[in-house]
Amino acid sequence: GGKPIVTDILHCGKPTLPANALPPYQCCPPMPASEPVDFRLPDPSEPLRTRRPAHVAGADYMAKYERAIALMKALPRSDPRSFYQQANVHCAYCTGAYRQVGHPELPVQIHFSWFFFPFHRAYIYFFERIAGKLLGDPGFALPFWSWDVPEGMRLPLPFANASSPLYDPLRNPRHAPPKLVDLDFSWREKNYTDEQQIQYNLRIMYNQMITNSPSASLFYGQPFRAGEADKPGAGPVEIYPHNTMHIWTGDLSLPNVENMGVYYSAGRDPVFYAHHANIDRLWETWRNITSGDQRHDLVFTDPDWLDSSFLFYDEEAHLVRITIRDVLNIDKLRYTYDGVGIPWLNARP
Ligand code: C2O
Repeated sequence: GGKPIVTDILHCGKPTLPANALPPYQCCPPMPASEPVDFRLPDPSEPLRTRRPAHVAGADYMAKYERAIALMKALPRSDPRSFYQQANVHCAYCTGAYRQVGHPELPVQIHFSWFFFPFHRAYIYFFERIAGKLLGDPGFALPFWSWDVPEGMRLPLPFANASSPLYDPLRNPRHAPPKLVDLDFSWREKNYTDEQQIQYNLRIMYNQMITNSPSASLFYGQPFRAGEADKPGAGPVEIYPHNTMHIWTGDLSLPNVENMGVYYSAGRDPVFYAHHANIDRLWETWRNITSGDQRHDLVFTDPDWLDSSFLFYDEEAHLVRITIRDVLNIDKLRYTYDGVGIPWLNARP
């Protein structure tokens, strides 16, 4: 019997960074003017945000994301909605900057555990709403990088345009489009033909989403409770394609594969949020596929999972406490996914 993990901004301190990390060397959020408020679901009358795949969303849709990132980058660094602070959110939750309340010797680390899907859902939920607020567009929705379907298996072009706010110079130059992604990339090029790589990627998707994820306990990752050591074990999708796509994107010539290839800096690349929108979509996809199978739970009912909570600044720059319970229904969060099929369902190896 453990307890839910509850983060507290007063328990944020020095991150444990890898050797030769690039600045900044700290990543805790700005202190709030007052206590965090509990999350409230958006009003049901809000426009539904429809997240679209970057490869088919079209120039206007992508230009909006571009403008949103430019606006975030233009905010002062002290503003919790600035791109600088939004990128730091990832660092704070992944480098031991946050310590467990009551267990200062133990870090909060949301990877390699059952927090992986819900934490990132909450993170990009607030990111998307901040973007919408800055744009003055309450229906703004993130593009997702649909690297699981053949047409999406490249870095989407706007991210590769060196004059775009979506560009990040700290990426693998060999992986600029039209290079196809390798969903189990591990530092080495496979030298497959495009057709071989596509079939290979589709089989990986089938393996990780279907074969290796028959139940909630296998899909989400291992329980992580207050008082326990971090990284108890990742679900299959977190290991690959999630981690592998981080490494595939980052610059292998840098000591820690910055930016995307290492926790502390991954959020500094604007493609991070499109990558995680796809991960979040795959969570929904898994639930939809698995809901046909009555033998299995789609979520954990353990209160240690449901009541675990994280802190984020919202679009009004108010600090909000959000629990996993709060993020389990995307209809209630007022967003949805559109525009792409599930071709890997037919790719049973
Ligand atoms: Cu928090 Cu994609 O990593």
